[in-house]
Amino acid sequence: MRHRLSHTDHDIIDSSLHHDLDRQKQSSSAPNQRKRQRLHEQRDWIILLKFGIFLFLICIATFLAVQIKRHRVNVAHGMLRNGQGVDVANSSDENRAHEESLEQWHQNEQSHGIDRESIIDCPFYGCPITATEVSQLNNSNAANALSPNHIILTHKSNRKVPAPVNQDRAILISPFLPEEHIGNHPLQQVRSKDNFLMGIFDGHDNAGGDVAQFSMQQVPLRIAQKLKDAIAMHPPNENQITTNNTLLDSNIVKEAIVQSHEEVDLALPTEQSIMGGCTANVVLRLGSTLYMSNVGDSFSYLVTYTPPINGLHKATNTRGNENSDQQPSLQGSIIIHHENTRHKPHLPEEQSRIKHLGGRIHIPQPPKSPMGSRVIVKSTFHKEDVGLAMSRSIGDFEWTKVGVIPTPDVNVIDLKDFFASRDVGKASELFVVVASDGLFDNRKKEFVTRQLARVLFELKDDAIVMDDRVHGQQREMMLEGAKKLVAAVSPLKEEWYRDDISVIAKIIEL
Ligand SMILES: *[C@@H]1O[C@H](CO)[C@@H](O)[C@H](O)[C@H]1NC(C)=O
Ligand SMILES: *[C@@H]1O[C@H](CO)[C@@H](O)[C@H](O)[C@H]1NC(C)=O
Ligand SMILES: *[C@@H]1O[C@H](CO)[C@@H](O)[C@H](O)[C@H]1NC(C)=O
Repeated sequence: MRHRLSHTDHDIIDSSLHHDLDRQKQSSSAPNQRKRQRLHEQRDWIILLKFGIFLFLICIATFLAVQIKRHRVNVAHGMLRNGQGVDVANSSDENRAHEESLEQWHQNEQSHGIDRESIIDCPFYGCPITATEVSQLNNSNAANALSPNHIILTHKSNRKVPAPVNQDRAILISPFLPEEHIGNHPLQQVRSKDNFLMGIFDGHDNAGGDVAQFSMQQVPLRIAQKLKDAIAMHPPNENQITTNNTLLDSNIVKEAIVQSHEEVDLALPTEQSIMGGCTANVVLRLGSTLYMSNVGDSFSYLVTYTPPINGLHKATNTRGNENSDQQPSLQGSIIIHHENTRHKPHLPEEQSRIKHLGGRIHIPQPPKSPMGSRVIVKSTFHKEDVGLAMSRSIGDFEWTKVGVIPTPDVNVIDLKDFFASRDVGKASELFVVVASDGLFDNRKKEFVTRQLARVLFELKDDAIVMDDRVHGQQREMMLEGAKKLVAAVSPLKEEWYRDDISVIAKIIEL
């Protein structure tokens, strides 16, 4: 019985060598056998050479097997540690082709957004802008990323294994469902130019970027289609139009948002839904109602900004100050409102749903934060136990059966009520922030938010704001401010791990 091929093979090599050496010793004293001996020697050399090559190949194979195994283990640990998935192994041509087509899609989007007047093929629901990579940001391509009303930026992770690709997707559609598309009903008095939709989709695991890409395109489209259908189906309610400045009942909108996410999860191509997933954090404004919807562990919240009582010091508006190394501080003040619940497996409601379906949950013991909790499944794709850092997501098919669902929480906020409330003064401005978790890995939410408020409100120079676009000096100031913000939320050393970072901030006017 042969237990190990290599062991037996070694035995064969040893005994034949031994045998040949003995024979050589015996035959050296017989000159008439010299020719036969030479033949023997030649054959011995060939046999030796063959065994040598064989051994060499075995060594290479073993080495490769060990490397692959080690890589798999690293990948799984990375997933447990960071809650981020793994990227597609970078070698296959198919992946590269796919990356290229995504890149092209992205470039098309970029070139569309740069001059919004020139957009000719916007979908019926509006013209999407996607996030600009902050390291590529310059004076000539900043129009998409920065305006006096919004910031939409992304910064690629520095992870090297398996591939350094950005798995975040961010989209802003403003206005969303513009007036002319809403219908021709005589009752329609709705001013819809302020309506918008924005969303962050943070991908994880091998196909996370693709799942995020698919979701970014499909979620807004499906929401828009459902709202359009609802407008056509339900007679406009005059009371609702006058009080809420929208044709749509909030329960209908809420349902449209929930259904759209669930449909996108089902519509995902099978291989993507097995090999990856993403978060979905979508904010929709219709009239005076704001819908803040969330799946997974991305962030969204509202912020009120109050300028300093005595007005802004001009000093901070100079280029010189912008260029100094010190992180400039906000002159006004901010309050954060309506933070979303991030879906982590340790939360009681999430935990009970998952455990009910036989799911395993890992919760770090104190003093470690329970925010590091994971849903563990034995993945047939990864062929080992893998932990997912969130209890809801789009995709992640292997976790779906243990209760990781694509159903969003939808927080409905009446902006009139919000502004009438005690802690929101009349002098305040309002903005909404949506971000991937990478934005807060190194800095507190308050710090990041103050920097966002500074870029949005304190780098303005009213004299040079001609329309809703940024010009000249103001653009440069915002650009510097945005780059400083991203540098400030990145780890101090380039070699330290940095997650994908994406943020959209948008001013809401009543
Ligand atoms: C701005 O950045 C884009 C993308 O990196 C580049 O193609 C373009 O040449 C840059 N423009 C200027 C003026 O630097
Ligand atoms: C992944 O592939 C891209 C091009 O397809 C290449 O630029 C990059 O260096 C590769 N990364 C790794 C880690 O192999
Ligand atoms: C206006 O919208 C709020 C939600 O923002 C809703 O609760 C209220 O019922 C709406 N009012 C009318 C008259 O439809």
